[in-house]
Amino acid sequence: MKVVHTIEDLRDHLRGQLRVSFVPTMGNLHEGHMALMKLARQHGDPVVASIFVNRLQFGPNEDFDRYPRTLQNDIEKLERERDVYVLFAPDERELYPEPQSYRVQPPQELGDILEGECRPGFFGGVSTVVLKLFSCVQPRVAVFGKKDYQQLMVVRNMCRQFQLPVEILAHETVRNPDGLALSSRNMYLQPTERAEAPRLYAALQSVQQHLQRGECDIEQLEQQACAELNGRGWQVDYVAVRRRRDLHKPGRDEVAAGEPLVVLAAAKLGATRLIDNLEL
Ligand code: PAF
Repeated sequence: MKVVHTIEDLRDHLRGQLRVSFVPTMGNLHEGHMALMKLARQHGDPVVASIFVNRLQFGPNEDFDRYPRTLQNDIEKLERERDVYVLFAPDERELYPEPQSYRVQPPQELGDILEGECRPGFFGGVSTVVLKLFSCVQPRVAVFGKKDYQQLMVVRNMCRQFQLPVEILAHETVRNPDGLALSSRNMYLQPTERAEAPRLYAALQSVQQHLQRGECDIEQLEQQACAELNGRGWQVDYVAVRRRRDLHKPGRDEVAAGEPLVVLAAAKLGATRLIDNLEL
């Protein structure tokens, strides 16, 4: 695997390649990321991965400074798996050589709800860096995980509206055997919090079971799930049942008519904020 830190070196290695498959990450790679690399490999050649902790998508009180940076370990993992041909690991000066005054602004109705409401500016930061990375790598295909469900939708919509020639592929969320979705932020959890963490997914499954039994009062189901988690010491930001196609609230009649839905949740356990979702 070639490890490159500049856009110039990246382009040198990719010259003439028309079937580049790309996996953008912020590093601290786990099995979830490795699954994205495998999917990328099935859909293109060569595979390019990037590792860049993108300051633009962190709020002022978020974990940008303590976000785990484990480049050497990440390189070793990627080399063992042999799916990736080029790892692009730019530093801040390479990707943001001047203040990023041109930004991608996702539409309010998608970018300012759920995660976007809790983390103002988050999806603008994500979209801007993804557009920049796409422009550096020029992939034909790019792979994102479904754990970041809203991010996946924002990126898909951005590609559609800007008519970017990139096909976005989604990979199912990879979970620990106890249900906890893999995430770089799981490493912040204290042992007792780690034992409690699978409850977030359990809460989503419980919403699913109620809906399967024909209970259509979505707000009540959301409130029940929040109350249960809050009662166990979580600080819930949201548990929300939404339409898969646009993440808007479904009407009762839509629920009854079988509109495809997803339930999404975000909650803090101690100092660690976790997100998860389940397609219903
Ligand atoms: O999902 C992530 O790790 C990041 O949001 C991404 C897509 C790499 C952009 O920084």
